[in-house]
Amino acid sequence: MSNALKLARLLQVLRSGEQLAAQTALQQSQMAPLPWMSRALAAQAAQERSHATIAATALTLIGERHSAVNVMQPLYQRLGLDLDTGNLADTMLGLQGVVEHLGEALLEVLGAHAHPAGAVLHALHEKVLRQERGHLLLGTRCLQTLRTSTHQRDVIEEYRILGQTTAISVATLLDDARLNAHAFWAIVDARLSDWQAHALRH
Ligand SMILES: [Fe+2]
Ligand SMILES: [Fe+2]
Repeated sequence: MSNALKLARLLQVLRSGEQLAAQTALQQSQMAPLPWMSRALAAQAAQERSHATIAATALTLIGERHSAVNVMQPLYQRLGLDLDTGNLADTMLGLQGVVEHLGEALLEVLGAHAHPAGAVLHALHEKVLRQERGHLLLGTRCLQTLRTSTHQRDVIEEYRILGQTTAISVATLLDDARLNAHAFWAIVDARLSDWQAHALRH
């Protein structure tokens, strides 16, 4: 598989993840019980929209090849259910926990690919990565403020399984010998566990 095709696929996954993040953060901001939380989540939604636009621009630059495969679909469905149920804390485990950590690892893989559109990709990598780290911190702050329950341990395990399935689909999609699917997930999972230790205090 050519480098350009790999990049196109990575960017398609990234664009889809950013669109999911934008929709979810916007709905979270409408559910938030405190003004600061609502404002911060609305700001996150705006940043996610801009990330989706940057990913779409980069795709145009490198030339979008083949139809997009939506490997994010299981996470879309589960987040949709939790948003409909109205459990803000659960949606945070899904978005600011699993989706954000997957996105961060994906951006790092993206940064390892050299391409003529390298300057745009580099800017995308630096800017988006900085903002994504802010979203991880926001998730921790919100979860520490919200009244959380012990069932969240189960919820994060359910999201973790969906995250693992997605990570393996991404690695398979790229068909890159350097990107071992299980090793890729292990990187995401270690970061997620660290985040979880701060975000869930019981
Ligand atoms: Fe983002
Ligand atoms: Fe984000």
